[in-house]
Amino acid sequence: MRTLLLWMARNSWLKSRLPKMRFVRRAVRRFMPGEDVDAAFAAAAPLATAGQGIQFTRLGENLTSLEEADEVAAHYQAVLDRSATLPRPVEISIKPTQLGLDIDRAVCLRHLEALAKRAEEIGTWLWLDMEGSPYVEPTIALYEQLKANHRTVGIALQAYLRRTPADLRRLLPLEPGVRLVKGAYDEPAEIAYRHKSEVDGAFQSLALILAESARDSRTRCVLGTHDSGLVERIATFADAAGVPRDRLQVHMLFGIRVKELERLAAAGYPAYTLIAYGEHWYPWYMRRLAERPENVFFALRQLLP
Ligand code: FDA
Repeated sequence: MRTLLLWMARNSWLKSRLPKMRFVRRAVRRFMPGEDVDAAFAAAAPLATAGQGIQFTRLGENLTSLEEADEVAAHYQAVLDRSATLPRPVEISIKPTQLGLDIDRAVCLRHLEALAKRAEEIGTWLWLDMEGSPYVEPTIALYEQLKANHRTVGIALQAYLRRTPADLRRLLPLEPGVRLVKGAYDEPAEIAYRHKSEVDGAFQSLALILAESARDSRTRCVLGTHDSGLVERIATFADAAGVPRDRLQVHMLFGIRVKELERLAAAGYPAYTLIAYGEHWYPWYMRRLAERPENVFFALRQLLP
């Protein structure tokens, strides 16, 4: 089921048709407050009032023209400007291919530099999402360049990739912000763990290394997962290693395991909700379905009156 859904995420015929279907549009609302940024700000308000940190990501990936990348960059600049007026500005999370990485790396870096500068000025963070495996090395290289000039930038690393322990070792001397995630793409067994137990084991080991770095330096340690059992195990080990709770952050996606995130926040772990919005939600939504096949039944139920 997971492989089929991830294939559907990449299929351009389906990509042009499924998002127009009313039941699919209804189902996506569970994970996405709306297609425009106003809907994202509206959804963020009560969460921020409750003390959570907020991150925004505008959906879209693999652009085909640099004009589109310019438009995306201008959009995020406007989000940062608007968010500067809030008591706690939102953080932004971007896929490098959304800023033209496939077309012109220099343009992508220029946009990222400008956004990182603005984020730092208003006291917030810019995050680089991690995409499929061909983008891992280019994304880490972009991150290294950004981090040389800006403190408040972070990067997602995927625990399912066999290379990630080496990537983490490479980045730790920079005192990075790292959002550890399991990984959402369909990667071959030569480069990625494919069984949940292996991915969870890799996540746990990486998280402990990251947490110890956060204990001793300005490294920002983020567990980007809804897997509360895994978070509990990591929290227990981190506690034994003397990592204060406020150095271990938990970030979840909007609409998933909301109560669990509230519980972790109440227990003293900084909690963030990542809110996605935008018109180009199809591949992103299919990856959410692939993470939990029960969501497919939820989507199909929307066919019923
Ligand atoms: P797992 O899939 O094992 O799920 C644990 C439990 O959480 C499930 O049993 C279920 O209860 C619940 N759950 C998980 N997913 C759900 C869903 N879609 N619907 C309903 N319940 C669900 N990936 C990537 O490759 N690059 C990236 O940059 C990011 N960025 C990112 C940011 C943040 C804040 C999060 C939370 C996740 C990402 N991801 C990501 C996605 C990540 O790689 C992974 O695919 C998902 O988080 C699902 O894995 P879990 O860690 O939640 O565990």
